[in-house]
Amino acid sequence: MARDPGVPGALKIAPSLLSADFGSLAEAVGEVANVADWLHIDVMDAHFVPNLTVGPPVVASLRRHSGLYFDCHLMMTDPGDYLEAFRDAGADGCTVHVEVGRTGELLDECRALGLRAGLAANPDTPFEAVEPYLDKVDLVLCMTVFPGFGGQAFMAEVLPKVTEVRRRLDERRLAVDLEVDGGIDRDSAPRAAAAGANVFVAGSAIFGSERPWDATEEIRAAVRGR
Ligand code: DX5
Ligand code: ZN
Repeated sequence: MARDPGVPGALKIAPSLLSADFGSLAEAVGEVANVADWLHIDVMDAHFVPNLTVGPPVVASLRRHSGLYFDCHLMMTDPGDYLEAFRDAGADGCTVHVEVGRTGELLDECRALGLRAGLAANPDTPFEAVEPYLDKVDLVLCMTVFPGFGGQAFMAEVLPKVTEVRRRLDERRLAVDLEVDGGIDRDSAPRAAAAGANVFVAGSAIFGSERPWDATEEIRAAVRGR
């Protein structure tokens, strides 16, 4: 049964496992179990991005250790070939990149499989590329770094696009989450929140820290206190 994604538009912190110790993923999940809203899982295919990470078998293994909502970010050229496998493995939402094309079809496929449908845009992809699909998505992901690696610097130049997405979602009264991913920490998260983001993915700021639980709460407090 699918896990509860929470209220669309409400503040959510999504630790990204990309910066965790891949030899102890279950332990990493345990460290944020009672504090994370979602768990962000970065899937890279060594084609859409120049890095290779995990696939459905790892998601299935993690599912045995966690009841968290799994937010799967598919940095893949052909995500359509794997959506069903991710669903069966225990994914709750799958986010595809608009740059790979077949966008309408992929989003429909997600929903037909019972997955929440997300659409991601790279930092240099304009709002206009995402705009036609706003009524087909549950989540829009504005990348605040070029995807592929953790630990990169936050790109503030993406914030006007975040503002534009939020404005259009509100105008159209669409209950959609707006996520930012890349270089998110307690300094950048409040800036992204001010622009309209409500889901904050953080990899190195959480799993690169000595105390992932505290680091997650620090990001939440920074967003609340802005
Ligand atoms: C980057 C991934 C991110 C990554 C973020 O391509 O999509 O989810 O884990 O890592 P940080 O928070 O270190 O930028
Ligand atoms: Zn990601």
